[in-house]
Amino acid sequence: MSVLRPDYDSDPDRWRSWESPQDVHHLVAPELRGPVLDVACGEGRLASLLGPGVRWVGVDNSPAQLADNPHRPVTRADMRRLPFASDSFAEVTHLWCLYHLDDPASAIREAHRVLRPGGRYYACCAARDNDPEIVPEGHEPSTFDAEDAVSIVESVFDDVTARHWDQKFFPLSTREEVRAYCRHNYIPSERADRASLPLWLTKRGVLVRAIKH
Ligand SMILES: C[S@@+](CC[C@H](N)C(=O)[O-])C[C@H]1O[C@@H](n2cnc3c(N)ncnc32)[C@H](O)[C@@H]1O
Repeated sequence: MSVLRPDYDSDPDRWRSWESPQDVHHLVAPELRGPVLDVACGEGRLASLLGPGVRWVGVDNSPAQLADNPHRPVTRADMRRLPFASDSFAEVTHLWCLYHLDDPASAIREAHRVLRPGGRYYACCAARDNDPEIVPEGHEPSTFDAEDAVSIVESVFDDVTARHWDQKFFPLSTREEVRAYCRHNYIPSERADRASLPLWLTKRGVLVRAIKH
């Protein structure tokens, strides 16, 4: 099981190379009332979908990601040590980030601490058998994959539900798009050259929701 080492400052173009036309942000954003703490907020994809009345605070440890983020306030911090008081947020999100940690439960415990009683928690990740059309052998196991995400969140929260997806959502129509997709997702570029177009990938993953009682 490996940690996906963050490269957002050493190779910012890897993350910028592609953006999903449909993402979990679209499921989560309408449920948020605020104040919401968007942990590992990146360049603000979730914040860009929130209504003006929703109080949002972003945290990330990457200067490059925060420089690309037009939303405020943001704080540079590690998600394992959040510089916020206990019981202060109505929602905390961990979207596409926990696989960057050796011990994702440490960050989930911090999320639980800063949530108010009754507050709602969200985390998401892909499955190891995501993208089978282009990664038939499966992705290398990480520390936070859909296969284990629910039990890891359950090690911190009592009230946990999961929404899994296993579906083709959108095509990659051009060779350039497939190359960009591969670069963004750490997939060897030769796979893009061999793929037939349009490429419909089966997306597999999970959105985990939890409540702090
Ligand atoms: C795949 S991006 C996801 C960004 C955003 N949540 C989204 O869904 O668009 C992962 C983010 O996690 C951040 N990150 C990685 N390790 C971190 C850590 N230990 N503490 C805080 N942020 C971290 C990275 O800088 C990056 O912005």
